[in-house]
Amino acid sequence: PPPAPPPGFLFSSSGLIGRSWSMLFAAADFDVEMYDIDEKQLQGAMAEVRTQLAELERLGLLRGKLSAEQQFSNIRTTSEFEDCVRGAFYECVPENIELKNAVHTRADAVMSDTCILASSTSALLPSRLAADIKHKNRFIVAHPTNPPFYAPLVELVPSPWTDSDVVPSTKALMEKIGQVPVVLKKEIEGFVLNRIQYSIMREGWGLIKDGIVDVDGIDKVMSAGLGRRYAFMGPFETAHLNADGMKNYADRYATMIEGVMSTLKSNDRFGGPVLEQIRTELEARIPLCDLQERRQWRDRRLAALTQLNQRIDAE
Ligand code: NAI
Repeated sequence: PPPAPPPGFLFSSSGLIGRSWSMLFAAADFDVEMYDIDEKQLQGAMAEVRTQLAELERLGLLRGKLSAEQQFSNIRTTSEFEDCVRGAFYECVPENIELKNAVHTRADAVMSDTCILASSTSALLPSRLAADIKHKNRFIVAHPTNPPFYAPLVELVPSPWTDSDVVPSTKALMEKIGQVPVVLKKEIEGFVLNRIQYSIMREGWGLIKDGIVDVDGIDKVMSAGLGRRYAFMGPFETAHLNADGMKNYADRYATMIEGVMSTLKSNDRFGGPVLEQIRTELEARIPLCDLQERRQWRDRRLAALTQLNQRIDAE
């Protein structure tokens, strides 16, 4: 069995992702210590976390068994970076390699030999991020999905030097707070989520460029079609259920699938006239001044989907 998770998960910076992690760990009754170079950001984050927890409680969506106020009392702020580095340290600073390296070097100097040093990076490879630190064997990428409260997937990506206990222990920790970890056996650009996301975007881009369908059509194929199933199960389970098992699916459809796959779109520049076309269509549908309202629309749906999943799981 993996070693027990560290006694307190102490970390962070108080931006969008750091704030979300602090809420998730606090809900599972871990002590969370938040640090940020910007004191105003830290205080703003605390106010925002308190409001969000109260709202989640009102909607019946709080994680764990503690009340919103009990969860909030598990989170503290500190102006001393070193206070944040204990059983585990979770770096959530902006996606900039120099900045991340500076924070890791600072943690490296004070962390114990058993502390886990994790990064929320969206795309930087762990072997690059950890190359120059003394505790490179304790480093792991834990890439969340935004918003982590409603999209529980977290990709765990070790570097070639990561100690063998770090992956199972981080995985156990994530499961303990109710997230859904997926472990990559080795690192790769874009990890898995973004590779799949960008494959969809590349194909959609090519279909729009070739005049097969418009932006609205691609978005509907995902939201009214594929996405309806993907909210509950992935493409392989879908295939398994769409025939008498995966083997039967391949027997029936392999020739057709290989034929279509051989015509999939190739790389294109992420810019130029196709971008103009996509941007224009999207802005006609959702003007930039309405983005905030649309985000709230999205979050209401994510919350409702979470409630639906919880209800069905409890049945
Ligand atoms: P953000 O800009 O909201 O927050 C970053 C925070 O870091 C700010 O509060 C800033 O004051 C603080 N900070 C800057 N320098 C610091 C330092 N030296 N020490 C301590 N704190 C410092 O950024 P966000 O969106 O939370 O992203 C954080 C990380 O999470 C990035 O690596 C990003 O790629 C990754 N991520 C972001 C997702 C998203 O959708 N926003 C999704 C998945 C991962």
